[in-house]
Amino acid sequence: MKKDNSRPWWKDAVVYQIYPKSFQDSNGDGIGDIRGIIQRLDYLRDLGIDAVWISPMYRSPQADNGYDISDYCDIDPMFGTLADMDELIRQAKKRKIRIIMDLVLNHTSDEHPWFIEAKKSRDNPYHDYYVWRDGEEGVYPNDMKASFGGPAWEWVPELKQYYFHQFAVKQPDLNWENPKVRREIYDMILWWMDRGVGGFRLDVIDQIAKEPDRGITNNGPRLHEFLREMSRETFRKGDLITVGEAWGATPEIAKLYSNPDGSEFSMVFQFEHSMLDQQPGKEKWDLRPLPFIELKQCLARWQTELYQTGWNSLFWDNHDLPRIVSRWGDDGTYRNESAKMLAAVLHGMQGTPYIYQGEELGMTNVTFESIGDYRDIETVNLYHERLEKGYEEADIMKSIYAKSRDNARTPMQWDDSAHAGFTSGTPWIAVNENYRQINAEAERKDPDSVYQFYKKLIRLRKDYPVFADGKFELLLPEDGQIFAYTRTDEDMQMLVCANFTGEPAKCSLPGKWKDAGTLIHNYEGDVCGDTMRPYEAVILLQKRGK
Ligand code: GLC
Ligand code: CA
Repeated sequence: MKKDNSRPWWKDAVVYQIYPKSFQDSNGDGIGDIRGIIQRLDYLRDLGIDAVWISPMYRSPQADNGYDISDYCDIDPMFGTLADMDELIRQAKKRKIRIIMDLVLNHTSDEHPWFIEAKKSRDNPYHDYYVWRDGEEGVYPNDMKASFGGPAWEWVPELKQYYFHQFAVKQPDLNWENPKVRREIYDMILWWMDRGVGGFRLDVIDQIAKEPDRGITNNGPRLHEFLREMSRETFRKGDLITVGEAWGATPEIAKLYSNPDGSEFSMVFQFEHSMLDQQPGKEKWDLRPLPFIELKQCLARWQTELYQTGWNSLFWDNHDLPRIVSRWGDDGTYRNESAKMLAAVLHGMQGTPYIYQGEELGMTNVTFESIGDYRDIETVNLYHERLEKGYEEADIMKSIYAKSRDNARTPMQWDDSAHAGFTSGTPWIAVNENYRQINAEAERKDPDSVYQFYKKLIRLRKDYPVFADGKFELLLPEDGQIFAYTRTDEDMQMLVCANFTGEPAKCSLPGKWKDAGTLIHNYEGDVCGDTMRPYEAVILLQKRGK
């Protein structure tokens, strides 16, 4: 098969995301750790992935599960030691897997030594590492709100100043206007590059160039200037994969982030499609059914706009999102079929696919009975905030069941032994009770499992350059059930055709392709009829000119 050597390696790569707290515990304390990840590297190799993005494992008080860092150059004892980290990088390399670190550069923990110093006095050399405004107690500088509830300003009586935090109170925002802050960050990145990491995921990177006086949080005027400087000073010195998390990206902005000249990042990780099932202008908790035609338009627009001008990440799931099979598939009768359908639709597109731990098993959302079983700061804050505002508890729980980040954070389901093989102790968050049916061990033995389907999709991406290169065209844009598109390069044309619903759907497309080869299909037998079965999905390939 033809390989285009001019293409950077990460255009053919598949990334797997690990949420370390919930992946594998090695010492029985109920919390996943680095040794646990090392034990599971062979599993990842078998799946065929090229790189692993691991959510933060730096030293942290864990107010936001590690997204509140108190030392960028150390590992939290809960996860292990720096020596374990070096060993992980080494062991992964042996298996041709690169380790992607999660960089949280918008804010630190309030327990970071910089912030402890910054709080001491207005003329402390670290004071200007953060964003402060004078004021009076109880009179906020403005009415900006924090993402996890409450105002974005926190009063420090000793200084008679407020500090700015876009996330929790324990996550003060860094001041990127200060060149010293930027230099410290670049040196830290270089330090990790020296240790052999293969790339970085940049947490809420569109929010670093804030201008709170003008109410600006994301896409601030100096954002791309900062990113280019960072890239020049750090990433470009190595052959890295870099991915910027940007909730506020449009295709235009994404072309800057992922400019093929490499001036910023390899790719962007944007969420437009993942916000479609919430009421416009409201919060993610304000549910509405997925508008399917809009979903197709949205994904198609990104495919078309970034073609040859940028590069996207392809994902349904991550540690902040509910499980896709519960969300837009069917986690009951058609769990197996719908999980595969969703995978086929996503992996057939242009971009670098990200698989979130357990997605390859078709893991589902969880419905804990009581709020006391939830661990996520966002979920717990939301619950209390809405109760106070007078919402019915049942309605709040309905939103939590649909959207809580803890849906994605229950322990990885390895086998049908106690706690799904995740820990020999008590897990920090309860295991989803469906682990006896849904687990890695069972799926690896079953040739018809969701796991085997993902493994095959990953393989196909390696074998057929049309997955990386082919030009995207959406078919049947107005069809309310079918998601279909082609990908076309110089030699080949591929058809991805899927029934996105649990009802049979009229569709004659695959029939017209009857001489084409079937790359992958989630049902037994032919696909040539006029009707697609519930959640049926197929990828066909033919030589061009037919
Ligand atoms: C990102 C992370 C999320 C975290 C937030 C603040 O959105 O993915 O988990 O809470 O940033 O760092
Ligand atoms: Ca542990």
